[in-house]
Amino acid sequence: MKIGFVGGTGYIGEGLSLRWAKKGHEIFIGSRNKEKAKRAFKKYNKKLGKGYKDKLNYGLNKDAILESELVVISLPAKVIKKALEDLKKHFRNEIVVSPVAPLYKSDNVFKCKNTCAALKIQDILPSSTKVVSAFHSVPASHLKDTEKNLNCDVVVCGDDENSKSTVKSLAEEIKGVRCLNGGPLSVSKLCESLTPLLINLSIRNELEDPSVKFIDFSD
Ligand SMILES: NC(=O)c1ccc[n+]([C@@H]2O[C@H](COP(=O)([O-])OP(=O)(O)OC[C@H]3O[C@@H](n4cnc5c(N)ncnc54)[C@H](OP(=O)(O)O)[C@@H]3O)[C@@H](O)[C@H]2O)c1
Repeated sequence: MKIGFVGGTGYIGEGLSLRWAKKGHEIFIGSRNKEKAKRAFKKYNKKLGKGYKDKLNYGLNKDAILESELVVISLPAKVIKKALEDLKKHFRNEIVVSPVAPLYKSDNVFKCKNTCAALKIQDILPSSTKVVSAFHSVPASHLKDTEKNLNCDVVVCGDDENSKSTVKSLAEEIKGVRCLNGGPLSVSKLCESLTPLLINLSIRNELEDPSVKFIDFSD
């Protein structure tokens, strides 16, 4: 599949790019700056090693959108509105994946804004795009280390079942990931609030990048 990253030079962009390139997907690393995208391209290629050279491409964010069937919005929440208002004209009917968590720091703890980033993104982009939220509780450091086997759940929320199913399949290509259907996009708000919780737990309990796994006791 052709997968583009808006803000593909950042942490989650790197992690998902490496994981999916290894599975044979065509990855486009987008950035506001072509030279920065090129540096990320070289870095990811080096990490991937021989055999994956033709899997990566790079360029401006708009080209990541134009060249892809699925676009990951790997941007900090605070820049979403401005960045996507500028880019929305390039979207058509892509699946748009949001790992975005609207977190902020106050009184020395991370908190979640009383808003839903995924709904905001769907609101800004053309209604022909299908926004699916996922990956809020997967640490980028785990994704970036492609030798590491994950053992976590990814909750996927969205209003279009086919798009959700595509994202579920992509997520489960990453070894150790189980995907759970979270329901409609409006449920994303609950998933987004997990990110600051996990960061706080990590800091206060010296956990090494916690992620989430739900236990079904009937198993
Ligand atoms: N990091 C994690 O472990 C993790 C885990 C789960 C979910 N998430 C979520 O995933 C999203 C991305 O996280 P991240 O850690 O990858 O973020 P990040 O590394 O801080 O930033 C990602 C990219 O955003 C672009 N960017 C920064 N400021 C911008 C601006 N003003 N306008 C347009 N683009 C800008 C930059 O790309 P260019 O400079 O190349 O344009 C940057 O490389 C966040 O919403 C976060 O909540 C992160």
